[in-house]
Amino acid sequence: MRLRLMRRGPPLLEGEGQGEVCAPSGEDAKRPNDGAVHREPLPRPVIGWIPDRLSPTLQASGKGRRRPGDPSGEVPHLTPTLYVQERGHARGLLASVAFAVSAVAAEIPPGERRSGFDAMAPETRAMQEDDTSNPGMLWVQDGAELWARAPSADKPACAGCHGAAEAGMRGVAARYPAFDARSARPMDLQGRINTCRREHQGAEPLALEGRDLLSLAAYVANQSRGLAVAPPADPRLDPARAQGRALFTARMGQLGLSCAACHDDNHGRRLGSATIPQGHPTGYPLYRLEWQGLGSLGRRLRNCMTGMRAEPFAAGDPEAIALEAYLMQRAAPLLIETPAVRP
Ligand code: HEC
Ligand code: HEC
Repeated sequence: MRLRLMRRGPPLLEGEGQGEVCAPSGEDAKRPNDGAVHREPLPRPVIGWIPDRLSPTLQASGKGRRRPGDPSGEVPHLTPTLYVQERGHARGLLASVAFAVSAVAAEIPPGERRSGFDAMAPETRAMQEDDTSNPGMLWVQDGAELWARAPSADKPACAGCHGAAEAGMRGVAARYPAFDARSARPMDLQGRINTCRREHQGAEPLALEGRDLLSLAAYVANQSRGLAVAPPADPRLDPARAQGRALFTARMGQLGLSCAACHDDNHGRRLGSATIPQGHPTGYPLYRLEWQGLGSLGRRLRNCMTGMRAEPFAAGDPEAIALEAYLMQRAAPLLIETPAVRP
Protein backbone atom coordinates (compact mmCIF):
# COMPACT_ATOMS: atom_id res chain seq x y z
CA MET A 1 0.00 0.00 0.00
CA ARG A 2 1.34 3.40 -0.90
CA LEU A 3 0.24 6.62 0.63
CA ARG A 4 1.81 9.30 -1.39
CA LEU A 5 1.23 12.97 -1.68
CA MET A 6 4.16 14.03 -3.78
CA ARG A 7 4.89 13.39 -7.34
CA ARG A 8 8.03 11.47 -8.07
CA GLY A 9 10.97 13.74 -8.76
CA PRO A 10 14.38 13.10 -10.20
CA PRO A 11 16.62 10.82 -8.20
CA LEU A 12 18.02 12.10 -4.95
CA LEU A 13 21.57 13.19 -4.60
CA GLU A 14 24.04 10.58 -3.61
CA GLY A 15 24.20 9.77 0.04
CA GLU A 16 20.90 11.43 0.80
CA GLY A 17 17.50 10.44 1.79
CA GLN A 18 18.20 8.19 4.72
CA GLY A 19 15.56 8.47 7.35
CA GLU A 20 17.90 10.12 9.77
CA VAL A 21 15.20 12.36 11.12
CA CYS A 22 14.23 9.55 13.37
CA ALA A 23 17.75 8.72 14.33
CA PRO A 24 18.24 5.42 12.62
CA SER A 25 21.40 3.54 13.16
CA GLY A 26 23.36 0.77 11.54
CA GLU A 27 22.15 -0.48 8.18
CA ASP A 28 19.44 2.09 7.72
CA ALA A 29 21.89 4.91 8.05
CA LYS A 30 24.15 3.36 5.44
CA ARG A 31 21.58 2.26 2.93
CA PRO A 32 21.63 4.41 -0.20
CA ASN A 33 18.34 5.87 -1.23
CA ASP A 34 16.90 3.71 -3.94
CA GLY A 35 13.30 4.77 -3.56
CA ALA A 36 12.83 1.91 -1.13
CA VAL A 37 10.88 4.10 1.23
CA HIS A 38 7.67 3.02 -0.42
CA ARG A 39 8.43 -0.63 -0.32
CA GLU A 40 8.91 -0.66 3.42
CA PRO A 41 6.16 -2.59 5.18
CA LEU A 42 3.58 -0.23 6.63
CA PRO A 43 4.14 0.15 10.35
CA ARG A 44 1.19 -0.93 12.41
CA PRO A 45 -0.35 2.06 14.15
CA VAL A 46 -1.51 1.10 17.62
CA ILE A 47 -4.14 3.06 19.48
CA GLY A 48 -3.04 3.10 23.07
CA TRP A 49 -1.84 5.22 25.93
CA ILE A 50 1.26 7.33 25.94
CA PRO A 51 3.77 5.01 27.55
CA ASP A 52 4.98 5.98 31.00
CA ARG A 53 8.53 6.45 29.88
CA LEU A 54 7.43 9.40 27.76
CA SER A 55 5.88 11.16 30.71
CA PRO A 56 8.88 13.19 31.83
CA THR A 57 9.37 14.64 28.35
CA LEU A 58 5.69 15.31 28.05
CA GLN A 59 5.81 17.21 31.29
CA ALA A 60 8.90 19.07 30.28
CA SER A 61 7.26 20.25 27.11
CA GLY A 62 4.13 21.25 28.95
CA LYS A 63 2.10 19.09 26.60
CA GLY A 64 0.83 16.67 29.23
CA ARG A 65 -2.27 17.84 31.00
CA ARG A 66 -2.31 17.37 34.72
CA ARG A 67 -4.53 14.67 36.15
CA PRO A 68 -7.38 16.49 37.90
CA GLY A 69 -6.92 16.48 41.65
CA ASP A 70 -3.25 15.66 41.52
CA PRO A 71 -1.72 18.49 43.52
CA SER A 72 1.84 17.33 42.95
CA GLY A 73 1.42 17.90 39.27
CA GLU A 74 3.86 15.05 38.72
CA VAL A 75 1.63 12.76 36.71
CA PRO A 76 0.53 13.91 33.29
CA HIS A 77 -3.02 13.17 32.27
CA LEU A 78 -2.82 10.36 29.76
CA THR A 79 -4.74 10.92 26.59
CA PRO A 80 -5.51 8.30 23.95
CA THR A 81 -2.96 8.57 21.23
CA LEU A 82 -2.03 7.06 17.98
CA TYR A 83 1.14 5.32 18.96
CA VAL A 84 3.16 4.83 15.82
CA GLN A 85 5.53 2.04 16.49
CA GLU A 86 7.51 -0.47 14.60
CA ARG A 87 7.85 -3.33 16.99
CA GLY A 88 11.21 -4.95 17.32
CA HIS A 89 12.45 -2.78 14.51
CA ALA A 90 16.21 -2.67 14.89
CA ARG A 91 16.48 0.53 12.88
CA GLY A 92 14.55 2.34 15.55
CA LEU A 93 12.51 4.53 13.23
CA LEU A 94 9.87 6.31 15.22
CA ALA A 95 10.33 3.63 17.81
CA SER A 96 9.46 5.78 20.73
CA VAL A 97 7.22 8.62 19.84
CA ALA A 98 3.55 9.13 20.41
CA PHE A 99 1.40 11.81 18.89
CA ALA A 100 -1.97 12.89 20.14
CA VAL A 101 -4.58 12.01 17.53
CA SER A 102 -6.57 15.09 18.36
CA ALA A 103 -3.57 17.36 18.02
CA VAL A 104 -4.56 20.50 16.18
CA ALA A 105 -1.71 22.23 14.49
CA ALA A 106 -1.47 25.71 15.96
CA GLU A 107 1.12 28.10 14.65
CA ILE A 108 3.79 29.06 17.15
CA PRO A 109 3.31 32.73 18.10
CA PRO A 110 6.28 34.96 17.17
CA GLY A 111 7.27 35.50 20.80
CA GLU A 112 7.58 31.76 21.39
CA ARG A 113 9.67 30.93 18.35
CA ARG A 114 12.97 29.30 19.23
CA SER A 115 15.88 28.29 17.07
CA GLY A 116 17.03 24.68 17.10
CA PHE A 117 20.20 26.18 18.52
CA ASP A 118 18.55 26.61 21.92
CA ALA A 119 17.92 22.90 22.38
CA MET A 120 21.42 21.79 21.41
CA ALA A 121 24.02 20.40 23.78
CA PRO A 122 26.37 23.06 25.18
CA GLU A 123 29.32 21.63 23.23
CA THR A 124 27.44 21.88 19.92
CA ARG A 125 26.36 25.42 20.69
CA ALA A 126 29.95 26.35 21.54
CA MET A 127 31.09 24.84 18.25
CA GLN A 128 28.64 27.01 16.32
CA GLU A 129 29.44 30.17 18.23
CA ASP A 130 33.19 30.07 17.83
CA ASP A 131 34.22 30.71 14.23
CA THR A 132 37.52 28.96 14.78
CA SER A 133 35.76 25.73 15.74
CA ASN A 134 32.68 26.02 13.51
CA PRO A 135 33.40 23.68 10.56
CA GLY A 136 30.89 25.59 8.42
CA MET A 137 33.34 28.49 8.29
CA LEU A 138 35.53 26.43 5.95
CA TRP A 139 32.76 26.62 3.35
CA VAL A 140 32.28 30.32 4.05
CA GLN A 141 35.99 30.87 3.34
CA ASP A 142 35.69 28.91 0.09
CA GLY A 143 32.69 31.05 -0.77
CA ALA A 144 34.72 34.21 -0.25
CA GLU A 145 37.29 32.96 -2.77
CA LEU A 146 34.64 32.04 -5.32
CA TRP A 147 33.03 35.44 -4.84
CA ALA A 148 36.23 37.12 -5.96
CA ARG A 149 37.13 34.69 -8.76
CA ALA A 150 36.06 35.40 -12.36
CA PRO A 151 34.46 32.33 -13.99
CA SER A 152 36.35 33.08 -17.20
CA ALA A 153 38.69 35.75 -18.54
CA ASP A 154 35.96 37.87 -20.13
CA LYS A 155 33.31 37.57 -17.40
CA PRO A 156 33.15 39.45 -14.12
CA ALA A 157 33.40 37.79 -10.74
CA CYS A 158 30.47 38.15 -8.38
CA ALA A 159 32.50 40.89 -6.72
CA GLY A 160 32.90 42.62 -10.09
CA CYS A 161 29.21 43.54 -10.04
CA HIS A 162 28.27 43.34 -6.40
CA GLY A 163 31.41 44.72 -4.79
CA ALA A 164 32.19 43.73 -1.22
CA ALA A 165 29.73 41.13 -0.01
CA GLU A 166 29.87 42.57 3.52
CA ALA A 167 27.99 45.59 2.19
CA GLY A 168 26.14 44.40 -0.90
CA MET A 169 24.89 41.06 0.46
CA ARG A 170 24.03 42.11 3.98
CA GLY A 171 20.38 41.31 4.69
CA VAL A 172 19.83 39.48 1.42
CA ALA A 173 19.52 35.95 2.84
CA ALA A 174 17.09 37.23 5.50
CA ARG A 175 14.53 38.02 2.80
CA TYR A 176 14.82 34.96 0.57
CA PRO A 177 13.01 33.19 -1.05
CA ALA A 178 12.06 36.28 -3.03
CA PHE A 179 9.90 36.71 -6.12
CA ASP A 180 11.86 36.74 -9.34
CA ALA A 181 10.01 38.89 -11.82
CA ARG A 182 11.74 37.51 -14.89
CA SER A 183 10.89 33.89 -14.28
CA ALA A 184 7.67 34.94 -12.49
CA ARG A 185 8.26 32.56 -9.62
CA PRO A 186 9.66 32.51 -6.12
CA MET A 187 13.37 31.87 -6.06
CA ASP A 188 15.57 30.75 -3.21
CA LEU A 189 19.07 32.00 -2.60
CA GLN A 190 20.77 29.15 -4.42
CA GLY A 191 18.46 29.64 -7.39
CA ARG A 192 19.32 33.34 -7.37
CA ILE A 193 23.06 32.64 -7.33
CA ASN A 194 22.71 30.22 -10.22
CA THR A 195 20.63 32.74 -12.14
CA CYS A 196 23.50 35.22 -11.82
CA ARG A 197 25.89 32.52 -13.00
CA ARG A 198 23.80 31.91 -16.07
CA GLU A 199 22.59 35.39 -16.95
CA HIS A 200 25.40 37.59 -15.72
CA GLN A 201 28.44 35.36 -15.97
CA GLY A 202 27.51 33.25 -18.99
CA ALA A 203 28.54 30.21 -16.97
CA GLU A 204 26.98 26.85 -16.25
CA PRO A 205 24.77 26.74 -13.15
CA LEU A 206 26.56 25.19 -10.18
CA ALA A 207 25.39 21.74 -9.10
CA LEU A 208 22.72 21.83 -6.42
CA GLU A 209 24.15 20.54 -3.15
CA GLY A 210 27.62 20.72 -4.70
CA ARG A 211 30.52 22.22 -2.78
CA ASP A 212 30.75 25.48 -4.79
CA LEU A 213 27.09 26.42 -4.59
CA LEU A 214 26.92 25.56 -0.89
CA SER A 215 30.04 27.64 -0.30
CA LEU A 216 28.71 30.68 -2.16
CA ALA A 217 25.31 30.38 -0.46
CA ALA A 218 26.98 30.05 2.95
CA TYR A 219 29.17 33.07 2.22
CA VAL A 220 26.24 35.20 1.08
CA ALA A 221 24.01 34.07 3.98
CA ASN A 222 26.82 34.60 6.48
CA GLN A 223 26.63 38.32 5.65
CA SER A 224 23.16 38.30 7.24
CA ARG A 225 24.19 36.49 10.40
CA GLY A 226 22.57 38.16 13.39
CA LEU A 227 19.86 39.86 11.34
CA ALA A 228 16.21 38.97 11.85
CA VAL A 229 14.48 36.85 9.24
CA ALA A 230 12.47 39.37 7.23
CA PRO A 231 10.21 37.79 4.62
CA PRO A 232 9.31 40.32 1.93
CA ALA A 233 5.84 41.85 2.15
CA ASP A 234 5.39 40.90 -1.48
CA PRO A 235 1.90 39.65 -2.32
CA ARG A 236 3.32 37.75 -5.30
CA LEU A 237 4.84 35.38 -2.74
CA ASP A 238 1.53 34.71 -1.02
CA PRO A 239 0.43 31.78 -3.20
CA ALA A 240 3.75 30.01 -2.55
CA ARG A 241 3.52 30.66 1.18
CA ALA A 242 -0.04 29.34 1.22
CA GLN A 243 1.07 26.26 -0.67
CA GLY A 244 3.96 25.86 1.76
CA ARG A 245 1.66 26.05 4.72
CA ALA A 246 -0.68 23.50 3.17
CA LEU A 247 2.26 21.16 2.66
CA PHE A 248 3.44 21.75 6.22
CA THR A 249 0.12 20.79 7.75
CA ALA A 250 -0.80 17.96 5.36
CA ARG A 251 -0.34 14.39 6.44
CA MET A 252 2.06 12.76 4.06
CA GLY A 253 3.86 9.49 3.71
CA GLN A 254 3.19 6.06 5.07
CA LEU A 255 3.21 7.13 8.69
CA GLY A 256 0.44 9.65 8.14
CA LEU A 257 2.41 12.43 9.82
CA SER A 258 2.52 16.11 8.95
CA CYS A 259 5.47 18.42 9.51
CA ALA A 260 3.23 20.30 11.95
CA ALA A 261 2.60 17.15 14.02
CA CYS A 262 6.25 17.25 15.04
CA HIS A 263 7.32 20.86 14.71
CA ASP A 264 4.18 22.73 15.85
CA ASP A 265 2.67 20.23 18.26
CA ASN A 266 5.51 18.16 19.66
CA HIS A 267 8.61 20.32 19.65
CA GLY A 268 10.72 19.93 22.75
CA ARG A 269 9.94 16.22 23.00
CA ARG A 270 12.43 13.47 22.33
CA LEU A 271 12.43 11.41 19.16
CA GLY A 272 14.97 8.67 19.54
CA SER A 273 18.18 10.47 20.42
CA ALA A 274 17.05 13.80 18.98
CA THR A 275 14.99 16.59 20.49
CA ILE A 276 12.30 17.72 18.08
CA PRO A 277 13.06 21.37 17.27
CA GLN A 278 10.47 23.89 16.12
CA GLY A 279 12.02 23.42 12.72
CA HIS A 280 13.17 26.89 11.73
CA PRO A 281 15.46 27.29 8.71
CA THR A 282 17.60 30.02 10.24
CA GLY A 283 21.03 28.47 9.85
CA TYR A 284 21.26 27.15 6.27
CA PRO A 285 23.39 26.08 4.64
CA LEU A 286 24.59 24.49 7.87
CA TYR A 287 27.05 21.95 9.12
CA ARG A 288 25.34 18.86 10.39
CA LEU A 289 27.43 16.53 12.52
CA GLU A 290 25.46 13.62 11.13
CA TRP A 291 26.31 14.65 7.57
CA GLN A 292 29.92 15.43 8.39
CA GLY A 293 29.53 18.30 6.00
CA LEU A 294 27.56 21.33 4.92
CA GLY A 295 24.05 20.84 3.56
CA SER A 296 21.16 22.93 2.32
CA LEU A 297 17.71 23.35 3.78
CA GLY A 298 16.45 21.21 0.91
CA ARG A 299 18.61 18.36 2.11
CA ARG A 300 17.33 18.77 5.67
CA LEU A 301 13.74 18.67 4.41
CA ARG A 302 14.45 15.54 2.41
CA ASN A 303 15.79 13.93 5.58
CA CYS A 304 12.58 14.74 7.44
CA MET A 305 10.39 13.55 4.59
CA THR A 306 12.23 10.28 4.26
CA GLY A 307 11.76 9.82 8.00
CA MET A 308 8.03 10.34 7.42
CA ARG A 309 8.16 7.68 4.70
CA ALA A 310 7.07 10.34 2.22
CA GLU A 311 8.35 11.04 -1.25
CA PRO A 312 11.07 13.66 -0.71
CA PHE A 313 11.19 16.76 -2.89
CA ALA A 314 14.01 16.89 -5.34
CA ALA A 315 16.48 19.75 -5.01
CA GLY A 316 14.98 22.98 -6.34
CA ASP A 317 11.42 21.63 -6.69
CA PRO A 318 8.78 24.39 -6.66
CA GLU A 319 7.15 22.60 -3.71
CA ALA A 320 10.41 22.74 -1.78
CA ILE A 321 10.71 26.47 -2.46
CA ALA A 322 7.08 27.02 -1.43
CA LEU A 323 7.76 25.15 1.80
CA GLU A 324 10.88 27.22 2.32
CA ALA A 325 8.93 30.46 1.78
CA TYR A 326 6.43 29.38 4.42
CA LEU A 327 9.14 28.22 6.83
CA MET A 328 10.91 31.57 6.63
CA GLN A 329 7.67 33.42 7.37
CA ARG A 330 7.03 30.99 10.22
CA ALA A 331 10.53 31.64 11.60
CA ALA A 332 10.43 35.45 11.67
CA PRO A 333 11.76 37.27 13.66
CA LEU A 334 14.43 34.73 14.65
CA LEU A 335 17.98 35.61 13.67
CA ILE A 336 19.97 34.21 10.76
CA GLU A 337 22.74 31.91 12.06
CA THR A 338 24.52 30.75 8.90
CA PRO A 339 26.59 28.71 9.10
CA ALA A 340 24.78 26.97 11.96
CA VAL A 341 25.85 23.64 13.43
CA ARG A 342 23.27 20.95 14.15
CA PRO A 343 23.51 17.41 15.52
C1 HEC B 1 27.34 41.09 -14.46
C2 HEC B 1 26.93 41.47 -13.14
C3 HEC B 1 26.65 40.39 -12.10
C4 HEC B 1 27.45 39.34 -11.75
C5 HEC B 1 28.79 38.95 -12.31
C6 HEC B 1 26.78 38.67 -10.68
N1 HEC B 1 25.60 39.28 -10.41
FE1 HEC B 1 24.36 38.82 -8.88
N2 HEC B 1 23.06 40.23 -9.51
C7 HEC B 1 23.26 41.07 -10.58
C8 HEC B 1 22.07 41.87 -10.78
C9 HEC B 1 21.87 42.91 -11.88
C10 HEC B 1 21.16 41.49 -9.78
C11 HEC B 1 19.73 42.02 -9.57
C12 HEC B 1 18.75 41.02 -10.11
C13 HEC B 1 18.86 40.89 -11.62
O1 HEC B 1 18.53 41.83 -12.30
O2 HEC B 1 19.22 39.80 -12.08
C14 HEC B 1 21.81 40.48 -9.00
C15 HEC B 1 21.27 39.87 -7.88
C16 HEC B 1 21.94 39.01 -7.04
C17 HEC B 1 21.45 38.53 -5.78
C18 HEC B 1 20.13 38.92 -5.13
C19 HEC B 1 20.29 40.25 -4.44
C20 HEC B 1 19.02 40.75 -3.85
O3 HEC B 1 19.11 41.83 -3.25
O4 HEC B 1 17.97 40.12 -3.97
C21 HEC B 1 22.38 37.70 -5.27
C22 HEC B 1 22.31 36.93 -3.96
C23 HEC B 1 23.44 37.62 -6.23
N3 HEC B 1 23.16 38.45 -7.28
C24 HEC B 1 24.57 36.85 -6.07
C25 HEC B 1 25.56 36.74 -7.05
C26 HEC B 1 26.66 35.81 -6.98
C27 HEC B 1 26.91 34.84 -5.83
C28 HEC B 1 27.41 36.00 -8.08
C29 HEC B 1 28.63 35.22 -8.52
C30 HEC B 1 28.42 33.80 -8.68
C31 HEC B 1 26.77 37.04 -8.84
N4 HEC B 1 25.66 37.47 -8.20
C32 HEC B 1 27.27 37.56 -10.04
C33 HEC B 1 24.40 41.17 -11.33
C34 HEC B 1 25.47 40.30 -11.26
C1 HEC C 1 8.57 12.63 13.16
C2 HEC C 1 8.84 14.00 13.49
C3 HEC C 1 9.21 14.94 12.37
C4 HEC C 1 8.49 15.22 11.25
C5 HEC C 1 7.16 14.64 10.83
C6 HEC C 1 9.21 16.23 10.53
N1 HEC C 1 10.36 16.54 11.19
FE1 HEC C 1 11.63 18.04 10.78
N2 HEC C 1 12.84 17.46 12.28
C7 HEC C 1 12.58 16.46 13.18
C8 HEC C 1 13.72 16.29 14.07
C9 HEC C 1 13.82 15.29 15.19
C10 HEC C 1 14.68 17.24 13.66
C11 HEC C 1 16.06 17.48 14.26
C12 HEC C 1 16.97 16.34 13.95
C13 HEC C 1 18.26 16.41 14.68
O1 HEC C 1 18.66 17.49 15.12
O2 HEC C 1 18.89 15.36 14.81
C14 HEC C 1 14.07 17.97 12.54
C15 HEC C 1 14.68 19.05 11.90
C16 HEC C 1 14.03 19.89 11.03
C17 HEC C 1 14.54 21.15 10.55
C18 HEC C 1 15.89 21.76 10.91
C19 HEC C 1 15.79 22.78 11.99
C20 HEC C 1 17.12 23.39 12.31
O3 HEC C 1 17.26 23.89 13.44
O4 HEC C 1 18.01 23.42 11.46
C21 HEC C 1 13.61 21.66 9.69
C22 HEC C 1 13.71 22.98 8.94
C23 HEC C 1 12.53 20.71 9.62
N3 HEC C 1 12.81 19.66 10.45
C24 HEC C 1 11.41 20.86 8.82
C25 HEC C 1 10.47 19.85 8.62
C26 HEC C 1 9.46 19.87 7.59
C27 HEC C 1 9.24 21.01 6.62
C28 HEC C 1 8.76 18.70 7.71
C29 HEC C 1 7.64 18.21 6.82
C30 HEC C 1 8.00 18.02 5.45
C31 HEC C 1 9.31 17.99 8.84
N4 HEC C 1 10.38 18.69 9.32
C32 HEC C 1 8.81 16.80 9.34
C33 HEC C 1 11.41 15.74 13.28
C34 HEC C 1 10.39 15.76 12.32
